[in-house]
Amino acid sequence: MTERKRKAIGVFDSGVGGLTVAGELMNRLAGEDIVYLADSARVPYGTKSPDTVLRFTRESLDFLKGRNVKLIVIACNTASSVALPKLVCEEEIPLVGVLLPGARAAAKASRNGKIAVIGTPATIRSRAYETALHEIDQYLDVRSHPCPLFVSLAEEGWLDDDVTRMVAHRYLDPLAAFGADTMVLGCTHYPLLKGVISETMGSGVTLVDSAKEAAAEVEGVLEREGLARSRSEGGKFECFVTDNPYLFREVGERFLGRPINKVEHVSF
Ligand code: DGL
Repeated sequence: MTERKRKAIGVFDSGVGGLTVAGELMNRLAGEDIVYLADSARVPYGTKSPDTVLRFTRESLDFLKGRNVKLIVIACNTASSVALPKLVCEEEIPLVGVLLPGARAAAKASRNGKIAVIGTPATIRSRAYETALHEIDQYLDVRSHPCPLFVSLAEEGWLDDDVTRMVAHRYLDPLAAFGADTMVLGCTHYPLLKGVISETMGSGVTLVDSAKEAAAEVEGVLEREGLARSRSEGGKFECFVTDNPYLFREVGERFLGRPINKVEHVSF
């Protein structure tokens, strides 16, 4: 096996949400080692300006490159929307975001051409999903809405709760009235709230989870570049955070859906 193939996949998010992507990678690419970084000292990114998100993402990528990874997944919709377009021009290492895989899957799933997108305020403000969807098909009718409270509700673990249902109606009723048959869950936290979101939007609406789609994209890139390891080889998971490792571990296990042995604190 080549030296490069043996390296881990770097996964970056502002916090715990990217663990939904790490979990999908573990399911799909069981032979790969994963190094996860959460910039938990500076989360949330979703309410910050594009310049700040770009600076924080750049610094986080530098940390992961220092761990000698072979590919980096930007498992944060905000960073994928705001920072990734600039970073792909700067970096030599392959970068995979969560936005394009999600947009492609939504365009494919929609039958009536009406797509709803939800995400953090920064993601929605960037219009990155609209742009990506219209590059795929200019006739798609896209409606977007920021749902910032969903992040806290998912972290609190209120996944099947009346408060979450009320918030969901407030955010999503206008999108349900729009008549979309497909909705992009454009934030790493939202897959945890799938049950309530689906109940609010109606069973006829397909929810696109960008975590699943991004894992499929990573598999494709590794195969194309000859960097994929076989299922029987690795599977080590290392986790780094910029603040509060104990809280991260507690909440993170819910997002990952399996135990996290160790969370290390780093600063940069
Ligand atoms: N990870 C972010 C995203 O997917 C949500 C949390 C944050 O705002 O930093 O957009």
